[in-house]
Amino acid sequence: MDESGFDTMLARLAEKSRDEHYNPYTKFSWPEQVSEDEWWMHPDYLTVAGTGLVEDEKTLKALARSETVNFFSLHVNGIRELMIEVSKRIHTPGYADYNEYLHHFIGEENAHMWFFAEFCYRYTGGIYPEAASPLRRDGFGDEWDDVVVFSRILIFEEIFDYFNSRMGKEPLIPDILREIHAAHHHDESRHVAFGKQLVKRLHERACAAAPERRDDMEKYIKDYMTHSVRSLYNPQSFKDAGLPNPLEVRRKAMAHPVRREFHTKVMARVDRFFTGAGIFSTPWEA
Ligand SMILES: [Fe+2]
Ligand SMILES: [Fe+2]
Repeated sequence: MDESGFDTMLARLAEKSRDEHYNPYTKFSWPEQVSEDEWWMHPDYLTVAGTGLVEDEKTLKALARSETVNFFSLHVNGIRELMIEVSKRIHTPGYADYNEYLHHFIGEENAHMWFFAEFCYRYTGGIYPEAASPLRRDGFGDEWDDVVVFSRILIFEEIFDYFNSRMGKEPLIPDILREIHAAHHHDESRHVAFGKQLVKRLHERACAAAPERRDDMEKYIKDYMTHSVRSLYNPQSFKDAGLPNPLEVRRKAMAHPVRREFHTKVMARVDRFFTGAGIFSTPWEA
């Protein structure tokens, strides 16, 4: 996409954000309770799906609840840190073209953070704490640090969208959950469209400033993809579902060939983007 194409896209996305703006605090009608007899997530999307590690329906339903909490917590914890990074950059010289859209981004992510957390506090014991990440977040040099921030956002959003786009039309799950997934999917389709073009531009700028870091960055982004997929497997959610050996379930599930195939599917779109944009020389491997 050339510069004028990008400007047109930015204007169109900002207009959509304005037109489709909603009040997150009044958008949902929160039921008194959400029944534990229902599947809070479709069983095909649980981390143990296809592995045979858990067969009992009651435990699987409990896992659908705790993995919903984990999924929503990942958004709350993940976007907190990324919003700090976006806030540091808005209205600084290198971001002049993006200010308008970044205002929408920050506003919308703030709303998402609220409704994901709200669900967890209303119907469960609240969100899970953030797991420690072994990956560094900066120190690659200014231009490359920008690539890190927006690549992380894009990967994070693509994982969410894989689930949101499916759970948002899933008749099996309770209405409130379907509505939350659908609302998030709706906003994120704009963020992803913006994010891809922005990451491309930031990557070109970084390559011009410090081309020798290009390979390091490819490795970093791929490591982040691996780390992100693994964050779906939370020992705490296995424990809360009543599984006696959470760490073992995590290890076995994560390494199962069926799950590796699933990881590839979740990451397929963002992997295609990174490869197509020349940011990756080879595809990511699950
Ligand atoms: Fe979001
Ligand atoms: Fe987003």
